[in-house]
Amino acid sequence: MTSTSAPTPGRPLAAALAEAAETAGHAPSIHNTQPWRWRVGTDALDLYADRSRSLPATDPDGRMLLTSCAAALHHAQVALAAEGLLTAVELLPTPAEPDHLARVTITGTAPVTPEAVRLVQAIGMRHTDRRPTIEEELTADQIEQLRQAAAAQGVHLHRLTPDQTTELAVAVSRAEDVAAADPALVAETTRWTGGDRPDGTGVPADVIPDRRPQTDVGERDFAVPGTLRIGGEHDKHAAYVVLFSDTDEPRDWLRAGQAMSAAWLRATELGIAVLPFSQVIEVDATRQLLRRMLADLGYAHLVLRLGIADPDHVGPPRTPRLDAAHTIEIDPAARAAGPAV
Ligand SMILES: Cc1cc2nc3c(=O)[nH]c(=O)nc-3n(C[C@H](O)[C@H](O)[C@H](O)COP(=O)(O)O)c2cc1C
Repeated sequence: MTSTSAPTPGRPLAAALAEAAETAGHAPSIHNTQPWRWRVGTDALDLYADRSRSLPATDPDGRMLLTSCAAALHHAQVALAAEGLLTAVELLPTPAEPDHLARVTITGTAPVTPEAVRLVQAIGMRHTDRRPTIEEELTADQIEQLRQAAAAQGVHLHRLTPDQTTELAVAVSRAEDVAAADPALVAETTRWTGGDRPDGTGVPADVIPDRRPQTDVGERDFAVPGTLRIGGEHDKHAAYVVLFSDTDEPRDWLRAGQAMSAAWLRATELGIAVLPFSQVIEVDATRQLLRRMLADLGYAHLVLRLGIADPDHVGPPRTPRLDAAHTIEIDPAARAAGPAV
């Protein structure tokens, strides 16, 4: 994890960039696939998709892959801000070069703000929480703070009404049925929850509830028994929000990932538990249902469940991460010298 001190004069930029890429490894990703690869240059950090850890049956268009990579991108931005480094971020994918996702360039230095310090600390605490939430409503102000965090990344965040939550539950259950009927998809899920997945990836049993939680909207079925102990309460106070934007291009999926990360880190600071629901987006038919539910306001990219986690039950442990050597490559020129901060 990066330190929260002011920029160290004379320190090679490449060292700060490599450290930010390492911090970005803590980002959430679909099935914990961590489908990113970083290239550290003398004064820039390039982000690539690593399709060797993609989910062709679950996520054929790569929506969740890009959303996950962009969560890592936002984590890297947060890490650099906490080092007092100002950045410019270009989102890059084109049909000719779909896997070169983004470039982060250092544009200057600035004093480290308390907000930057809080956000980078949230990276170390953030996790996915599949436990039912407790009897405490989120306040309108809390939701507003998350909305602003997403809006700063160019993405809208809408809290579903009770009627829309009921519609979401129907759509999620339909998406679950579609997934369960597809043997390739079930095999893929099983691979990333228990099968022959790369070391340091996947969703371990100890973050999956030991029984089906009582929730308004059914959680994803990971097709393996979990061991995370949960209480028997119903999460009727959970809030469901949808991240959406005006267009539905790969750059929008990247912005959605940055917004997810921004809202999630803010939620972590506020003590709010977060669970993404992506199956309903992965399945074409139910993604269209969500679009209609948003009354054609925009294109849905991800649903998040928000709530207060039960403090009487031990939370889920940390999920594993790939060794940085698998995801970070340092250019020989950057290794040699490169400009200093
Ligand atoms: C784009 C995206 C989609 C996700 N979709 C789901 C989902 O549908 N159901 C679920 O239980 N977790 C979902 N997750 C959470 C991941 O499984 C989780 O981030 C990963 O296992 C790493 O664990 P951590 O978030 O605790 O670090 C999603 C995460 C991302 C980034």
